[in-house]
Amino acid sequence: MCGIVGYVGSESVLPILLDGLSRLEYRGYDSAGVAFIENGQVDVQKKKGRILNLREKLADSGLLARQDIHIGIGHTRWATHGAPSDENSHPHLSASGRIAVVHNGIIENYLELKRFLQERGFEFASETDTEVIAHLLEYHYEEDAGQDILEAVRRTLSDLEGSYALGVLCADDPEQFIAARQDSPLVLGLGEGCNFIASDIPAILSHTRKIIIMEDREVARLTKEAIELFDAFGQPVKREPLLVTWDSEAAEKGGYEHFMMKEMHEEPRAVRDTVLPRIRDNRIRFENFQMDRQALENLDRIRIVACGTAAHAGIVGKYVIEALCRIPVEVDVASEFRYRNPIITERTLTIIISQSGETLDTLAAMREAKRLGSQILAIVNVVGSSIAREADHVIYTAAGPEIAVASTKAYNTQLAALYLLAFQMAHTLGRIDDAELKDYLEKMTNLPSLLETTLAHQDDLQRFAAAHFNAHSIFFIGRGLDYALSMEASLKLKEISYIHSEAYAGGELKHGTIALIEEGTLVVCPMTQPQLVEKMISNIREVKARGAVILGILTPDCMRAAEVCDQVIELPQIDPLLAPVVAVTPTQLFAYYMTVNKGFDVDKPRNLAKSVTVE
Ligand code: AGP
Repeated sequence: MCGIVGYVGSESVLPILLDGLSRLEYRGYDSAGVAFIENGQVDVQKKKGRILNLREKLADSGLLARQDIHIGIGHTRWATHGAPSDENSHPHLSASGRIAVVHNGIIENYLELKRFLQERGFEFASETDTEVIAHLLEYHYEEDAGQDILEAVRRTLSDLEGSYALGVLCADDPEQFIAARQDSPLVLGLGEGCNFIASDIPAILSHTRKIIIMEDREVARLTKEAIELFDAFGQPVKREPLLVTWDSEAAEKGGYEHFMMKEMHEEPRAVRDTVLPRIRDNRIRFENFQMDRQALENLDRIRIVACGTAAHAGIVGKYVIEALCRIPVEVDVASEFRYRNPIITERTLTIIISQSGETLDTLAAMREAKRLGSQILAIVNVVGSSIAREADHVIYTAAGPEIAVASTKAYNTQLAALYLLAFQMAHTLGRIDDAELKDYLEKMTNLPSLLETTLAHQDDLQRFAAAHFNAHSIFFIGRGLDYALSMEASLKLKEISYIHSEAYAGGELKHGTIALIEEGTLVVCPMTQPQLVEKMISNIREVKARGAVILGILTPDCMRAAEVCDQVIELPQIDPLLAPVVAVTPTQLFAYYMTVNKGFDVDKPRNLAKSVTVE
């Protein structure tokens, strides 16, 4: 996600902003910028690339050494709308140049607002949703807020749909700046004769440990003497500051012990940001992908190509797309696909899935499919990455930066994107009608809440892991979509706990592998498919008869399997078709706790890299 820092006080602001942004580098970013007021003007300095580039630019211009600049806002950008570039970097300026804004989050209705502003003569220099906020602030400032920047902010916020953490600077009010938040974290720092905003505590921890965490729809006005906090109705809010005792490293993880746990808890927000901006008026709209009925009916097959976790997401995608669209889907791991002379024609759609967008095997496989004439649709998390740039179409996941080597939230958002794609294609093909589409979209909108509920179960998993972390080999068995998600569950366990594990189709064990089951073998069974639960109960009885210990991960309509499980993790009720998006999370937590019990490095497991850019 993006990083935000703001300061008003008596010290030189630019070193404070740059230092604060540097402490947010762990969040991942592709550009950085600052806005500050000097001589009654707002000045914006911003650059694509590292904070060091910005620091050098400010030093070379002499601005960094200035002692007469005391108010400013800074930003590190993780691109969501528009590739990394100087123009797309924040802060963004209003038309007159008198208002600057930095933003973290996603404005879902920015295109509508952009049209509204363009009809009124506003021109845009960037592709971002944030620039819409800058011009909207000016519109209200001049039209109906009486040139009161706080009122202009309030009126602007009432137009916005989506998530935001904002810092707003206005040249006409050089002693104050405004902050606001909705679904995107923002904290206020109380200093001695100075005050701060930050998207995350580490940015300002070296200046103050007195922190107020803003709540949704709150607005704050900061001067060097005081911070005024207001609720969504403009009423003053009194909130005692917290005294933060974390060290800076703990603060980077948001108070979690590991990035992996922090990122699992980001799953509700990540899935929401991936899904909601694409649902308008009960229809699905991707930024730059749409196939009409004729094009879809002309497809001879869909190929999904990826590596590791992304490939496992592709297997879920296969089940869902085939079930809904009745188009043949084949899934390949990229390292195999690129060397087996695959059958590809101009009538093939190849879906490339990659969190980083830089995995060499996947990039090479995409080029091979393209060379053979296939259309390429990429599902990628990093805006402007190599795969995103070379694909014909891109659907971005909005997981935000994923720091832990073991992918968690990225997988959940890859599934969410694949589901939206399947629903859109099925509806275009007439395989689901408007009512069915509406029902599925309502269920997709509810996924973040189901993830929140599921994450609340982590204590049960922590206890179970404490009893089984010395296991030598663990099996994940499932049928249908539960088998697909078992593949990801098994990989997660292997790559961080170093425990051998296999995912197996429940009905396939008896064809050989059941010979490995012995007294005490741990078998994990996700069961979310009611139509298959009786078969799974039979498979569980087979392995229990040979001494297996069963951990069941069950939805309510599969709860009859509890009788054959030694431990049950209950999932919330969910449409079986959508279950993997939520059912995978307990398996991620299970892998996490097994690893913590073994004392291994959860975030940086041995032998692994976050992005495999070698063959
Ligand atoms: C994920 O937990 C693994 N670290 C790994 O399998 C990863 O999914 C794979 O390397 C693909 O990476 P990508 O999604 O960035 O292409």
